[in-house]
Amino acid sequence: MTETLATWGGWAPAIRDDPFGHFAEARTRCPVQRVRLADGHPAWVVLGYDAARQALNDPRISKDMLAALQDNSDVVAEGLPGPEFSRHMLNVDPPDHTRLRRLVSRAFVPPMIAALEPAIRAIASNLLDEMDAAGPHATVDLIEGYAYPLPFGVIGELLGIPAADRPRLHAWFQVLLTGWAGDPPPEAVDASDGIVAYLAELVAAKRRSPAGDLVSVLVAAEDDALTTQELLSSLFQLVVAGHDTTASLIGNGVVALLDHPGQLQALLADPGRLPATIDELVRFTAPVPHATFRVTTEAVTLDGVEIPAHEQVLVSLGSANRDPGRFPAPDVLDIGRSDGPNLGFGHGIHYCLGAPLARLEARVAFEELLGRHPGLRLAVDRDALAWAHGDGLVLRGLVSLPVVLGPSRGQFIPGPGQRQG
Ligand code: HEM
Repeated sequence: MTETLATWGGWAPAIRDDPFGHFAEARTRCPVQRVRLADGHPAWVVLGYDAARQALNDPRISKDMLAALQDNSDVVAEGLPGPEFSRHMLNVDPPDHTRLRRLVSRAFVPPMIAALEPAIRAIASNLLDEMDAAGPHATVDLIEGYAYPLPFGVIGELLGIPAADRPRLHAWFQVLLTGWAGDPPPEAVDASDGIVAYLAELVAAKRRSPAGDLVSVLVAAEDDALTTQELLSSLFQLVVAGHDTTASLIGNGVVALLDHPGQLQALLADPGRLPATIDELVRFTAPVPHATFRVTTEAVTLDGVEIPAHEQVLVSLGSANRDPGRFPAPDVLDIGRSDGPNLGFGHGIHYCLGAPLARLEARVAFEELLGRHPGLRLAVDRDALAWAHGDGLVLRGLVSLPVVLGPSRGQFIPGPGQRQG
């Protein structure tokens, strides 16, 4: 008998743009269920909050993608740039995970993150200057002009990527992160090859003349604690994890605030609420709607459902964060929520290493944007906005966000006493 499985991902535009009703319906029907991914691979999707939290923290659910590829090629499609660039912390288990995360963590200690604030503010302010040059009534694309280049510039600073090289790299990543169904198109292969060659050159340059950036720190650890393959994989993963996610948080967050003018006004009246607002925007808008690849190494029971060994597990963070058993009135954006942490940055040993940086970038991005343009508005119908990112599983961000910024006014930035992080 042929097994019929619901397809998860690769949704029609209406679901992709607003997947939360679909998640709720699936979660109510069966909070842990067997599905078929858009690329044809079978998997289990975990939709309830408690089961998602358990899955993210269960050592019997592995992240070792290369081992899974060797054991059972039916669990995962090989992505770009290929398995040889997959040897980073998000794709391995302890002890390799512990070693790789510890090395990269050197650049993510709180004083180093805090020290980036002036550079982030300068990038945000320059980008706003460029958009303002079009005039207060012009339509500008907030994704292209602000949400995307801001985190890309920050990751460039962190890694020591020369400013002149960033546009080239940025263009390649845009191609690669657009996503596709089935085999990668030639332009994606070219972009991937371009990125890999660029990162290899960057590493060679930092070996010759090290500086204070993260690439130089990692190059110093190469051979002793880190293979060249792990170094290049880690750089690739950091650029991917470090920019599109935050760009989506900024873009999705602006739309959510414009959709909820009462919440926006409450924020403008009390800018000290911005840190809590950012966490609520992560929960509500799901910039990363599903966690990355996982596979069971033995049978695991989640929410009373047994998942056999060697099966792919997809944890739906976007669904878990709208579970009414965890968040009262989950479909309401409420910047005053006191429900405690959500799963938007993951949980357990793979909890987002860049979360403090992402929160800082988002805080500065909103402070600068709303400080200058508290009256910004959409320049198109709300229904015309489109979210897209390949199969819609790991990234959820707008293709473009046309807005009219309006006149520059107001002072939004809270005083130091009001800052929470
Ligand atoms: C709004 C922005 C962001 C969101 C929503 C986000 C979300 C996540 C999530 C959900 C995970 C865990 C994935 C899993 O367990 O499968 C993760 C891991 C990770 N993120 Fe982020 N991220 C963001 C920004 C960043 C930034 C700015 C950086 C770095 C510059 C970063 C670096 C990482 C790294 C290195 C990991 C892997 C951690 C590990 O495997 O131990 N992220 N992120």
